[in-house]
Amino acid sequence: MSETEPIEQEPTQPLTVGYFDCEAACWTSKYRNSRHFKKRLAIVWQWLSRYHPGQVLLDYGCGSGVLLKVLAEAGFHVTGVDISENMLAEASKNLQTVLRKDKVRLVRVNEHFEGDYADRLYDGIVSLGVIEYVADYPALLARFGQLLKPGGFLILSFPNRESWLRRVERWVFQHPALFRLFGLFPHLTGPDSYLKVQRCQFTVAELQNQMAALDFELSRVCYHVAPIVLGGLAGSPSTGMTAIAEFIKRK
Ligand SMILES: C[S@@+](CC[C@H](N)C(=O)[O-])C[C@H]1O[C@@H](n2cnc3c(N)ncnc32)[C@H](O)[C@@H]1O
Repeated sequence: MSETEPIEQEPTQPLTVGYFDCEAACWTSKYRNSRHFKKRLAIVWQWLSRYHPGQVLLDYGCGSGVLLKVLAEAGFHVTGVDISENMLAEASKNLQTVLRKDKVRLVRVNEHFEGDYADRLYDGIVSLGVIEYVADYPALLARFGQLLKPGGFLILSFPNRESWLRRVERWVFQHPALFRLFGLFPHLTGPDSYLKVQRCQFTVAELQNQMAALDFELSRVCYHVAPIVLGGLAGSPSTGMTAIAEFIKRK
């Protein structure tokens, strides 16, 4: 599979927005019920804890605002942007207490990354599980470069194309009838499979190259997500289904 090869047909941006609009109501509960969501949040939070509260951060594709809430409560000034109106409505509900204290603002963006969030430079940008849904993701990465202060950080999480589990997942998705018969993997073979809207998967090395061209340096990487029986293998680049990487913009 090439770097930008779509998983299935060319999904349109409205399809992606429709998908996340439908997911919005249950998105926050994923953080209670999924050990992978909890783990990702814990890793990102640990990485962020070395930065000073008071810094100005952007969460691009903020979903229902779970990370935004943690950041705002810790004293960061955060802007959350998303393309899905329903996700932003959920975020607005979840963030009632901090919204009142002016620690957070929520902004809707369009598919060209336009919206009222580009009025300042940010100390850091976090974008978790987003670039794989964006057709012109190189343009989004370039946009991040323009929005960051020199020395600022960018934390991305994305599907790790090096993972053999991702290859298995893709194969299951492409042969749904085999698995539907036995009721296996409904999250991959059902009508609401996220692989229908996911456009790309990435290796850390190729993102590192693209980010180097934008004057970013890779500062740290971590892999996670695998069935529990595989234990510590989730942390290996050839197994962990999700990569989290931090890049620093050169001064
Ligand atoms: C998998 S969810 C992740 C949400 C959140 N970052 C989290 O980790 O819980 C992907 C989010 O990206 C948003 N999204 C997808 N394409 C986008 C785009 N072009 N611009 C802004 N947000 C986008 C979706 O609406 C959705 O809320």
